[in-house]
Amino acid sequence: MQNGLKPILVEPYLNTYNIDPSKIEEKITSHTCALMVVHLYGKICDMDPILTISEKYNIRIIEDCAQSHGARYKGKFAGSFGDFWAYSFYPTKNLGALGDAGAIVTNYIAMSEKLKALRNYGSKVKYKNDYIGFNSRLNEIQAGFLSIKLALLDKINKHKRKLTKLYIENLKSDFIFPVVDEDYFDVYHIFIFDIQDTMN
Ligand SMILES: Cc1ncc(COP(=O)(O)O)c(C=O)c1O
Repeated sequence: MQNGLKPILVEPYLNTYNIDPSKIEEKITSHTCALMVVHLYGKICDMDPILTISEKYNIRIIEDCAQSHGARYKGKFAGSFGDFWAYSFYPTKNLGALGDAGAIVTNYIAMSEKLKALRNYGSKVKYKNDYIGFNSRLNEIQAGFLSIKLALLDKINKHKRKLTKLYIENLKSDFIFPVVDEDYFDVYHIFIFDIQDTMN
């Protein structure tokens, strides 16, 4: 990979498809520098045990919030647990632009300067390239569209939650539906259901 890092995969919970915190520690080595959690399908990962692990090993957390705009875990929003938060605003996302768009958010000022340079050919000053970067600037039209749509995010999520309720109430009850838990406010970027294994 361009950053010289090697991703080490951790198995998910079978019922939510999100990372299983009990399987993280066995994968940690002295080389581990970050823990990336992907909040899939609109549900936040099981963050309490993940935060405990990150504190124990002093490892930073990167949250992939691409599918979880507005989701909550114990009252806290996706994008409020880690050190870096990555968002996709691809048109099909809960908060989607008119074309490709995305953002990275962080509280680390030094890193934010580097990230700003990386998205702009690795350059802070024109024709002076400090890093091997890429062209990943957010187009102003997309930014304007997203600003307007951001005000509608709660409405969009409410609609997705309403559709999910309808699916669960009206689809055949022998499907395995997404887990509903009062600690979680899910935004159902995608409604996933599984089929019972009738062979057993
Ligand atoms: C969980 C997750 N992470 C990352 C991405 C990548 O986003 P983008 O295509 O905007 O770079 C996606 C897009 O589908 C996604 O669903």
